[in-house]
Amino acid sequence: MEPAIVACGLTKVYKEGPVGPVEVHAVGGVDITVNEGELIGLFGPSGSGKTTLLSMLGCILRPTGGSLEVFGNDVIAIPEDEMPWIRKRYISFIFQGFNLFPALTAFENVMLVLELRKVPPDDAARRAEQLIAEVGLAERSSFLPRDLSGGQKQRVAIARALAADSPIIIADEPTGNLDHSNGVHIMRLLRALASDRRKSVIVATHDSRTQGMFDRILFMEDGEIFGQKEMVK
Ligand SMILES: Nc1ncnc2c1ncn2[C@@H]1O[C@H](COP(=O)(O)OP(=O)(O)OP(=O)(O)O)[C@@H](O)[C@H]1O
Ligand SMILES: [Mg+2]
Repeated sequence: MEPAIVACGLTKVYKEGPVGPVEVHAVGGVDITVNEGELIGLFGPSGSGKTTLLSMLGCILRPTGGSLEVFGNDVIAIPEDEMPWIRKRYISFIFQGFNLFPALTAFENVMLVLELRKVPPDDAARRAEQLIAEVGLAERSSFLPRDLSGGQKQRVAIARALAADSPIIIADEPTGNLDHSNGVHIMRLLRALASDRRKSVIVATHDSRTQGMFDRILFMEDGEIFGQKEMVK
């Protein structure tokens, strides 16, 4: 079976620091293969390069070096204007800050993804209701993000990823703003996406209490992966 992502020697050097031209070697030569149905945890201290690595794997940041394939597509060779196509086809993001549209209800936030994918309105509405219910928010479907708790907001973000039905889900500290029990709930949803729907899910996190839920854990430091642990199920 074809892996979802294959990266070799992936490197990012930021040329411009916040106060002028200083080179920051954020990611230095990372090799990683992400398989279908796999939940990978990316651990490492602040500044170790997790967000930078995820951004490259998610095709929102151009690597400075190395190779990167997403379902056999050579991302390095793809022109800039085709990157949105690659993301739309293959990748969903879940962020610590939720990134919902504040003026849209939970339901409408999910609908939007379906509409952008040209799903006919009736089907889209039915599907959005179903997904909102699936993440346990049926009663909150018409709430605006500001009236939802952090855990509930993150569940809307997961419903959106489900709506997009992308094979790859990249989550950057999805539980960073949540208390432990809400965090575990979100991690269970992500676990189910990998196990039941065969999604490839990569999660950067600081929460070591969730380590046991991953298939594989990568430890990052100073832009490099210095350790890997296969979790025994
Ligand atoms: N746009 C940028 N320009 C210059 N340097 C950057 C930029 N983004 C990140 N960096 C630097 O790259 C390094 C890695 O940052 P990154 O955000 O990837 O770390 P992280 O592991 O995600 O940290 P955290 O756990 O705090 O989110 C840091 O030294 C950071 O200062
Ligand atoms: Mg980060």
